[in-house]
Amino acid sequence: MNQVHTKHSELRSILITGATGGIGIELARRYARPGRTLILWGRNAERLQRLATLCCARGAAVVTRQIDLVDGRAALAALREDDTKHPLDLVVLGAGLSDIQPAGQLTEDPEKVLDLCLVNFTIPATLATAAAERMIARGGGKIALIGSVAGFYELPFAASYSSSKAGLAQFAEAANLGWSRHNVRITLIVPGFVDTPMSQRLEGERPFLVSAGSAARRIMRAIKMGKKEYIFPWQFRVLRVVERLVPHFLRARILLSLKAGQKPVKNS
Ligand SMILES: NC(=O)c1ccc[n+]([C@@H]2O[C@H](COP(=O)([O-])OP(=O)(O)OC[C@H]3O[C@@H](n4cnc5c(N)ncnc54)[C@H](OP(=O)(O)O)[C@@H]3O)[C@@H](O)[C@H]2O)c1
Repeated sequence: MNQVHTKHSELRSILITGATGGIGIELARRYARPGRTLILWGRNAERLQRLATLCCARGAAVVTRQIDLVDGRAALAALREDDTKHPLDLVVLGAGLSDIQPAGQLTEDPEKVLDLCLVNFTIPATLATAAAERMIARGGGKIALIGSVAGFYELPFAASYSSSKAGLAQFAEAANLGWSRHNVRITLIVPGFVDTPMSQRLEGERPFLVSAGSAARRIMRAIKMGKKEYIFPWQFRVLRVVERLVPHFLRARILLSLKAGQKPVKNS
């Protein structure tokens, strides 16, 4: 197995998408330090500005970019522009959308499916590829993709979310095979429930919930160690083993019996 030798202390330029989200904010705060440039992407201008001020106070140089990732061509151009100005050592692709089919509706909303699949799969795969192209030419780098344990399950009430994350996992696996030989390491982060606005919208239980701060610490450690895949918390690693023993017909029944709902999105 090839090792990627970029040490954490050598991460001079880090780009984070979804920096304005629950996990992204905690990652940015923790990565902020003197001698490091953080390139923070998000949609919400006010949150971006607040985060930039906080990270600057911690000694980091900060560049912000207000961007809607639904526009894939613009996102690709933006990544190349940022990488030209600040050759990226680490790219964390954390922006994500979630959705649950409303009760009483027989399908998800097709417009939402379109945006979700772009933001959760098409754009991270595109940006990871563009970053890897540059990193390979420079001799190496690190890329972290934020998937979800939902990607392990074919969730009937969240077909687009679960399949976007399953697709991302497959992309990470395939890309790692090709790119690790060139000193570019992908770490696929696979969280369970993290206490952020995304999961706070869910109705019902959030088993094995972890705080956003704890998630960020774990994610940073996994990236530092160059792990290929990191599932947390540990209970989901156990479930991953157990679920393989469940016969297909029973699995379908269990998945169909799950109840899920979400509160309306608050505009901030
Ligand atoms: N929270 C959980 O329980 C959980 C579990 C498993 C996996 N994850 C994954 O972890 C990642 C981070 O989620 P989170 O919990 O931190 O959620 P969050 O608080 O809702 O943050 C989502 C982030 O994605 C950004 N984003 C969404 N749509 C975008 C778009 N069209 N263009 C640009 N940025 C966009 C948001 O930007 P603005 O806020 O600026 O709009 C925000 O920064 C996601 O990929 C999510 O799927 C979360």
